[in-house]
Amino acid sequence: MGPHGEVQRAGVSAAGAARDGRAPTAPAPAYTIGSDATERDRLRSQTDELHEHAVALLDRVGVQPGWRALDLACGPRGVLELLADRVGLDGTVVGLDINPVHVAQARELARLHALHTVHVAEADARRTGFAPASFELVHARLLLVNIRDPQAVVAEMVRLVRPGGWVACEEADGGAMLCDPADRAYDRLMEAFRTLYERSGADVFIGRRVPRLLGDAGLTEIGVEARADVPPPGHPRRTVILDLLRAMRAKVIDAGLLSAQELDQLDHAAREHLADPRTLVMPHLSFMAWGRRPTLAC
Ligand SMILES: C[S@@+](CC[C@H](N)C(=O)[O-])C[C@H]1O[C@@H](n2cnc3c(N)ncnc32)[C@H](O)[C@@H]1O
Repeated sequence: MGPHGEVQRAGVSAAGAARDGRAPTAPAPAYTIGSDATERDRLRSQTDELHEHAVALLDRVGVQPGWRALDLACGPRGVLELLADRVGLDGTVVGLDINPVHVAQARELARLHALHTVHVAEADARRTGFAPASFELVHARLLLVNIRDPQAVVAEMVRLVRPGGWVACEEADGGAMLCDPADRAYDRLMEAFRTLYERSGADVFIGRRVPRLLGDAGLTEIGVEARADVPPPGHPRRTVILDLLRAMRAKVIDAGLLSAQELDQLDHAAREHLADPRTLVMPHLSFMAWGRRPTLAC
């Protein structure tokens, strides 16, 4: 690691992006959730909750010992441990995030878990500053759903992967936010959630678009798998959208979508409904998509 946290190993350099400790000037990301301890814990728990998805995605790609792997927008944890385990001691894992608090939290995680092959850099995923073709795998989870210009991120992912290497994404899709029996409070909150995302310029239905984005960016051997999880009673994923809305409370109120009182009442009523073991909830769809950078120029 360089003096400013930049990564310099095996042709991987984030110096251009991280030299001054800040991301290059760019429009603010639409990520509207924050980085306090509650959000850190929510994201770290989410890594456990989405473990099976991540394992399935990395299995599809066939991550090998010795690979250089990048977890773009890793947040406070992402898939850093899983990647470190797969690439082994001869490999390298780089985490990258635009949020300096998440970067510090990910570095703390790597230190506490003695993940010596993991390095974390602060930069914008759209212009990382890494050298081209630096990685065998570039992975991103729940990044594209949070930004206005997903094509720019995908283009950067393709630039960073070496010919023959893989790009892999997991993204949510709000096309099937189901609750049965229907509940007025839950419906109202889902509507506020979708409206907030739409207004931020992000696409809450991005999951289904990811394979197309990868193909449009020149990748081949595109694969896709969708999962529609129905968390059982008591499972933390049951309330994932309500938890996100809680984390975005100030944004919801500032946007005039709901008053603080309405938000609290709806949240309380919806949580009671979801606590009923007879209620079925499918919070969203998850799309996993992957593609390979061609080895030969056409
Ligand atoms: C929903 S979190 C997902 C974190 C992690 N990938 C995971 O699955 O646990 C989204 C992350 O994207 C990061 N992010 C948003 N816009 C970004 C950008 N333009 N460049 C890099 N990171 C970004 C946020 O700081 C946040 O850590």
